[in-house]
This record gives sequence, C-alpha cells and structure tokens, in this order.
Amino acid sequence: MDSLLIKGGVPLRGEVTISGAKNAVLPIMAATLLTREPCVIHNVPDLSDVRFMAQILSWLGAEVRLHKATARIQAKKIKGAGDYDLIRKMRGSICIMGPLLGRLHKATVSLPGGCVIGARPINLHLKGFQALGAKIVIASGYVQASAKRLTGSAVFLGGRAGSTVLGTANVMMAAVLAQGVTVIESAACEPEVVDLVKFLNAMGAKITGAGSPTVTITGVDQLHGAEHEVIPDRIEAATYAIAAAATNGEVTLRGARPEHMHAVLDKLHDAGVKVEREGASLKVSRNGRLKPVDITTLPYSGFPTDAQAQMMALMALTPGISIITERIFESRFMHVSELTRLGADIEIEGPSAIVKGGKPLSGAPVMASDLRASAALVIAGLAARGTTQVNRVYHLDRGYENIDGKLRQLGARVERVEES
Ligand code: EPU
Repeated sequence: MDSLLIKGGVPLRGEVTISGAKNAVLPIMAATLLTREPCVIHNVPDLSDVRFMAQILSWLGAEVRLHKATARIQAKKIKGAGDYDLIRKMRGSICIMGPLLGRLHKATVSLPGGCVIGARPINLHLKGFQALGAKIVIASGYVQASAKRLTGSAVFLGGRAGSTVLGTANVMMAAVLAQGVTVIESAACEPEVVDLVKFLNAMGAKITGAGSPTVTITGVDQLHGAEHEVIPDRIEAATYAIAAAATNGEVTLRGARPEHMHAVLDKLHDAGVKVEREGASLKVSRNGRLKPVDITTLPYSGFPTDAQAQMMALMALTPGISIITERIFESRFMHVSELTRLGADIEIEGPSAIVKGGKPLSGAPVMASDLRASAALVIAGLAARGTTQVNRVYHLDRGYENIDGKLRQLGARVERVEES
C-alpha cells in the first residue's frame, strides 16, 4: 500500500486549484441513470471514488467515458441490481438506488454496513422510498425496493443527527419520475444537494426549494440528457486553507466558493487566520498568533463534519484548550490516537475531544482509517518537525485529487512511496 512521506516544517506558499466536489459528483453521476439520453458532466475530479462510481454505472449497463475532467455517460439500457461487492466498497454508491427505483420501479443493492466513522444506517432513505409507494425487502445482505408505480407524497427526512445528505438525494431522484407532487421536509441543505438539483432540473425535472429544508418535486414523465459543471469542493478548499494556517504559510485557493464555506471561514477567522477574497480566489494566511476555538459539527450551514479532523490538527498546534464536538457521526475521532502519536495532547470525553494545543509535534509513522482523518494527519505532518509517514494513501486518493502533487506545488516536501 502506498504511503506519503512528509518532511514537515515548510510553510505552504502559492496557488492551488480546487477540484470538483466529490460529494456532488457522485450523486450527479448516479442521476444520469434517470435518462436514456447522453449526459456530460464537467469539472469531474480524478478520484478513486469517481472511478468506482463509473465502474458501478458500467456494471449496470451504462456507457461511461471519463476523460480529463469530463464524464460522458449514457444509460440507454440498464438493469436494476448493482454488484454486491462493488457497491459495498463505497458507501456513497447507495445513491444509485433512487434513480434505479425512479426509472425502473425496482432497485436491488447490497445493504451498506457501518464504517469506521459510525453506524451509517439508511432507514431514512427507505422511509422516503416507502412514502412514494415502494415495498422494501431486506434479505441475504441485499435491500430491494420495488413499486408498481411511484406516487408523490409528503415525507419528513429528519433523523437523529438532523437531515441526511444522500437520503435527500436518493428520495429526490426517485420522486422526479413519480406521479404527482413530493414534499421533503427536513431536507439536507448542503451545496452538493443544490448542485444535484441543478443537474436534475437541467434534465427536465421540476424541483423547487433546494438549499432549504423544504424541497418540492413535481413528477414528470421523463427526463432528457443534460450538461453540467460540478461545484468546487468546499471540503478540499477547507483542507488546504487549514494546511496553510497550520504551516504559517500563504495559499491562494483558486475557484474556492466562500458562500459555501461560511462556518469554516468564520472559525478560521476566530482562530486568527486571515482569509481574503481575490476575484474568484481566496487568499489564506495567518493573522498573528493562532487562537483556540470550540467547534461543534452540524448539518449545513453549520460546521461540516468533513472538516472536523483537519481543524483538530490545527487546534493541536494552537496554544490553549479547544473543545471539538462531533454531532453527525458517533465515532469520527479515529484520528485522535494518531495525532497523539505525533505529540498532540487530546482526550475524548463522550462526543467531544478536548484539545490541549501548542505542544510541539514531531514526525512519526501514522495510519489513518478514513479520508478526512488522513487529511488531518497530512496537515499535522506538514507542520511537525521531522518526517511523518502517512500510510494507506488510498483513503486520501478517494477524495483528494492529486494531493501530493498539489502540496508539492505549494512547496511542501512530500513524496509518494509506492509499496512494491
Ligand atoms: N442517518 C440516519 N439514517 C439514514 C441516513 C443517515 O440516521 O438513513 C444519520 C447518519 O448516521 C448520520 C447523519 O444521519 O448520523 C448524517 O448522515 P448523512 O446521511 O447526511 O451522510 P451521507 O449522506 O451518508 C454524506 C457524505 C459524507 C458526509 C455526510 C455528512 C457523500 C458521498 N458522503 O454522507 O462525506 O460526511 O454526508 O455531511 O456525500 C466524506 O466526504 O468524507 C464523507 C464521509
């Protein structure tokens, strides 16, 4: 397995271009299953999760061509069941279920299990499908949804931790071809959901209210092909912004959309980080000394769980105590023990991590268990003295396009070591 060797202590400087958003492109690719006609998606990031989704769509019968940052997909004829192992490998692939149900009135996928960040149930997705008239059967590790016809309905998608991002995407994609009107209450408001709605409406869907907790979908008879440009990845932008602050550097994030990043930018500001708009870019640098901040993750527009680990790395470097509370996923603190290996002083108390920051970090071999935890270790490694070896780079490759190349471009001493 590949690893990243990071020689820390170099302030990041220069410009980095933010790639298309992973969590927008995956459901958008799945949405192409809703039409027989060709679709073209631009600003597609080169990620292993994207290649996975392409494989799943191909397996279902779609023709998929990925070239540079463009995906051309045509799902002329498709089957309603996904490959068990392929789907299980990537939790995000659950979002093929809504489009399959919408178009074919049947969908069979492997039931996604939990993962290192928490239980990850799909009860809300299934509740939404049932509200549209689908029958759900769970057997032999598969979940099957089927319906003679789908009928619009009112459905409340709020759960234990608030709304559900892929659940909202799934129910919307099933409802676009249903008869009548569907109203989703407590819909996810994430920019990735809004981007999906933009694509669906370009395909001929009739959806209003995206970005608010009430989304209304008026069913149509069929959808047509469409062309779409994916929004820039707000979590990738946040990650490079935090890395700039952690190394006391100055980084320009080309294409970052501040309107999608209010909570992160607000906390960075409170932490003593200067973020200036420069045309279509954001320039990030320190504004004097770093200050500790308390953070609670929440659904959008609150602080994103996907930037929690990275912010914890920054707080580990910041003198003082900060409390980081995770409210979305119950066990998303797997990075804590690895940050501790680098010298950080962090204790977990229930859903909160108490970070006693400012201790010097020094490089060590570390291993991350998920994408954002790995990003946090990279940030800590960039700021630490000595060499940090981040193992299992495949986690990073799932969600960060060319991370080592982009970091080198910013002056970091990062090398990818391929295991023979
Ligand atoms: N939940 C339920 N029932 C459901 C669905 C979710 O109780 O049926 C709970 C979850 O257990 C969790 C909360 O609702 O406590 C929110 O989960 P959500 O459904 O919103 O997560 P997701 O849609 O499966 C997406 C992203 C995640 C991101 C979360 C939260 C994709 C492919 N994944 O997951 O991204 O953390 O939203 O914003 O869009 C990542 O990129 O590293 C990542 C994990």
